[in-house]
Amino acid sequence: MTAPAIRIRRLRCRFDGEGGPVDALRGVDLDVPRGAFAAIMGPSGSGKTTLLHCAAGLRTPTEGTVELDGTDLSALDEPRLAELRRQRIGFVFQQFNLLPALTAEENIELPLRLDGRGPDSQRTAALLAQVGLAQRGGHRPGQLSGGQQQRVAVARALVTDPEVVFADEPTGALDIRSAREVLGLLRHLADRGQTIVMVTHDPVAASYADAVLFLADGLVVDQLASPAAAAVANRMAVLVESAERAANAVGAR
Ligand SMILES: Nc1ncnc2c1ncn2[C@@H]1O[C@H](COP(=O)(O)OP(=O)(O)O)[C@@H](O)[C@H]1O
Ligand SMILES: [Mg+2]
Repeated sequence: MTAPAIRIRRLRCRFDGEGGPVDALRGVDLDVPRGAFAAIMGPSGSGKTTLLHCAAGLRTPTEGTVELDGTDLSALDEPRLAELRRQRIGFVFQQFNLLPALTAEENIELPLRLDGRGPDSQRTAALLAQVGLAQRGGHRPGQLSGGQQQRVAVARALVTDPEVVFADEPTGALDIRSAREVLGLLRHLADRGQTIVMVTHDPVAASYADAVLFLADGLVVDQLASPAAAAVANRMAVLVESAERAANAVGAR
């Protein structure tokens, strides 16, 4: 038995909000097997981003444990955690977060430089080809479409050969066709063994994953394996409705 890529137990995260403490996560358990593509869905404010940030070592939880391939993140001091993020985790953001002054190639190579390693031009070229941008390595982000920029960002996330790629709404800023390209790319990577955890609010995006986990008010309330978009949409509609009812009930107090 090998450890799952991600194992999360009793994860809690509390923020000190202006109107008092906010419990963004209230005891989340989650296993993501190696090579799986997992989607996380839930109404706005249900804790998706907080969960992703805790799982990726970007935020320290209030309670509970996160293990990355058997490594307990809470046992690491900040320099070691930073090293783990640089070497073992890839991150894809909704707004791409490419550096505008750097070419696609230079953006892809940046995580290696930040880790004190030299770039490897063959690897960069292979990654560019893998994301369908073999001819675009010398372009700057401003010369690329949104979908192309996000594919550069995916290549950048892969350059260190991370154990897990985390993506927070990676298609949220894309038109439908570009979104499908990026999702197809993520699916292809997962089929080749890359573990991926993606937050999305789009049932079609979630249908590319092997499993969908539904969050509501800081708790995992449901899961669907081999999710069909229609089933995901139905489940989400129920969750959003009950979240709105709860918010209205609070507002009416
Ligand atoms: N830095 C923060 N400070 C205070 N409250 C926060 C902070 N980040 C998130 N929250 C709160 O935690 C809850 C979950 O937020 P988040 O994880 O961003 O949800 P989602 O990504 O599902 O929309 C929300 O109530 C949000 O307002
Ligand atoms: Mg979010």
